[in-house]
Amino acid sequence: MGREVVKMVLEDPELELVAAIARSAGPVDAGTLAGKPDTGVIVSSSLAEALKASRPDVLVDFTGPKSAMPNAETALAYGVRPVIGTTGFTPEQIAELDKQCKDKGIGGLIAPNFSIGAILMMKFSAMAAKYFPHVEIIEYHGDQKLDAPSGTSIKTAEWISEARQELRQGNPDEEEVIEGARGGYYNGFRIHSVRLPGVFAQQEVVFGAFGQTLKIRHDSYDRAGYMPGVNTAIKKIMNVTGMVYGFEHFLD
Ligand SMILES: NC(=O)c1ccc[n+]([C@@H]2O[C@H](COP(=O)([O-])OP(=O)(O)OC[C@H]3O[C@@H](n4cnc5c(N)ncnc54)[C@H](OP(=O)(O)O)[C@@H]3O)[C@@H](O)[C@H]2O)c1
Repeated sequence: MGREVVKMVLEDPELELVAAIARSAGPVDAGTLAGKPDTGVIVSSSLAEALKASRPDVLVDFTGPKSAMPNAETALAYGVRPVIGTTGFTPEQIAELDKQCKDKGIGGLIAPNFSIGAILMMKFSAMAAKYFPHVEIIEYHGDQKLDAPSGTSIKTAEWISEARQELRQGNPDEEEVIEGARGGYYNGFRIHSVRLPGVFAQQEVVFGAFGQTLKIRHDSYDRAGYMPGVNTAIKKIMNVTGMVYGFEHFLD
């Protein structure tokens, strides 16, 4: 995702790449990593040093659950707006970053999904939950993903929970013969995380009612599909104060 962001920034004349960070890429030109001509921006291994030297307006973070929180705090310490695609943030961490953003008088974004199709899938699911309160979520990602369930499935579950009363589904006497067989429990329903090589990112929200089921599904095939959303966020974040949670807040 980081390489894709570098490529997108280099292709937009309204944006300027001033630094790129990677722990293990070595001191190469950022353009080389993104499959582009040399940019003069050498990839750094230290976020703090790069921020100090380049003083950017915005930091885009696609790393991992353990790195993203300290990265965001470092960015805010330098007065840099974090646009975060990394998933796995807890509500407490989001609240803490919101406080730090407001203390600095700047904005930030945590977006579990930058894809417009995925946002629509979540919105349609929340609409359906009003009429079909029985629901389960199945999300599919590559086998190297660190967090489960996915940030998108948690966000979907939050929206569904806003649209329906808490409802404990299934047979009250149900027993799991193998632990975890029924998936993760969220506000009365279940989220199932499939992790397989070859899979990129997909989610299916399955609603059941007497005599019918309804499935709402989104499939991502390529990292480039997230870039229009990241581009919009980089530009809109300049006019925001506080930590926004969810890319949908940046859509018309
Ligand atoms: N919001 C969205 O729309 C969206 C879309 C796709 C993915 N994601 C999320 O974005 C994150 C990254 O996804 P990915 O597919 O790009 O994963 P990836 O291929 O594993 O890449 C993550 C990269 O981040 C680097 N990294 C980790 N911690 C770092 C740190 N402290 N400083 C510098 N670099 C660091 C890793 O370097 P090493 O090789 O040294 O570990 C790795 O190169 C995941 O949380 C994923 O769930 C979000």
